[in-house]
Amino acid sequence: MALAFITGGTVGLGAETARRALAAGYEVAVLDLSSDRVPEDLKGVQFFEGDVTREETVTAALDGMGAVPDLVVNNAGIVTFMPLIETTQADFERVIAINLTGAVSVSRLAAERMIPRGSGSIVNITSTGGICTSPGTHAYAAAKRGLAAMTELMAQEWGPLGLRINAVAPGMIHGGMSTTVYDDPEVVERRRTGVPSRRLGTESDIAEAVMWLASDAASYVNGHELVVDGGLTKNMMSMIPR
Ligand SMILES: NC(=O)c1ccc[n+]([C@@H]2O[C@H](COP(=O)([O-])OP(=O)(O)OC[C@H]3O[C@@H](n4cnc5c(N)ncnc54)[C@H](O)[C@@H]3O)[C@@H](O)[C@H]2O)c1
Repeated sequence: MALAFITGGTVGLGAETARRALAAGYEVAVLDLSSDRVPEDLKGVQFFEGDVTREETVTAALDGMGAVPDLVVNNAGIVTFMPLIETTQADFERVIAINLTGAVSVSRLAAERMIPRGSGSIVNITSTGGICTSPGTHAYAAAKRGLAAMTELMAQEWGPLGLRINAVAPGMIHGGMSTTVYDDPEVVERRRTGVPSRRLGTESDIAEAVMWLASDAASYVNGHELVVDGGLTKNMMSMIPR
C-alpha cells in the first residue's frame, strides 16, 4: 500500500488531504505539533508528534513510519499579520522557519529515502499570498514565493532521480487558518465577488488538487505550481475602473 506523509495534518487543509489520501487507498502518516486536535475520523492514521523546524523530530517520524513515503505533503504553516515596520527579526524568522526552511528540510530528509527507490512525489503547499503579496503578510509572502522557487529547484535536482515535486497555491479558502476571517458573512460576500468563479475555495478543492498532482494522471507534471483560486490571481484587469 502506498504511504502518504502529511505535515500539519490534524486540522484544516492537511486533515482534509489526509482524508482524501485514505480514500485514494494510501496509508497515512501525519506529523504535527500535538495530537490533541486529531479528529475522530483520522484516529487510525499513524501520528508523529514533531515540529518541521526540528530535523530530529522529522527524522524520527520518517524512521518510525515503517516504509519510505510515496507522497510527502508539506502542508504545515503559520501566518501572522503585522506591518513590516513593527516586525522583529525573530517574528520574521519564525514564519520563514516553518513555511520555508521546514518544508525544505522535510523534503530533503524524505528525498534521501525516496531517491534510492527511484520514485516519489512531493507536494508543497504555497499560497496566492506568495504570488500577489499584500501588506502585513511580510515573511509569509516571502516564504511561500521561496517555496515555489524551491519546488522548481527540487524538480531540477531530483526529477532525474525519479521524483516529482510540485506545489499547490490555494487562494481564498473558507477553512483552515482562514476560518475565523469568514465568520462575518459580509466579508465572504465582498471577497467572493472578486473571484471569477464567484465563490471562496474549500479545503476539499485543495485536497483534490494535491491528490491529482500525486497521482499517475500527473506523471509528466514536475516543478509546477498549480494555482487553485477560482481565477483570483488572473482577475487584475477587471478591478481597473473603465
Ligand atoms: N486556509 C487558507 O486560507 C490557506 C490559503 C493559502 C495557503 N494556505 C496554506 O495551507 C497550509 C495549511 O493551512 P491551514 O489553513 O490548514 O492552516 P491550519 O492553521 O488550520 O493548519 C496548519 C497546521 O500546521 C501545523 N503546524 C504549524 N506549525 C507547525 C510546525 N512547526 N511543525 C509541524 N506542524 C505545524 C498546525 O499545528 C496545524 O495543524 C499552510 O501551509 C497555509 O499556509 C492556507
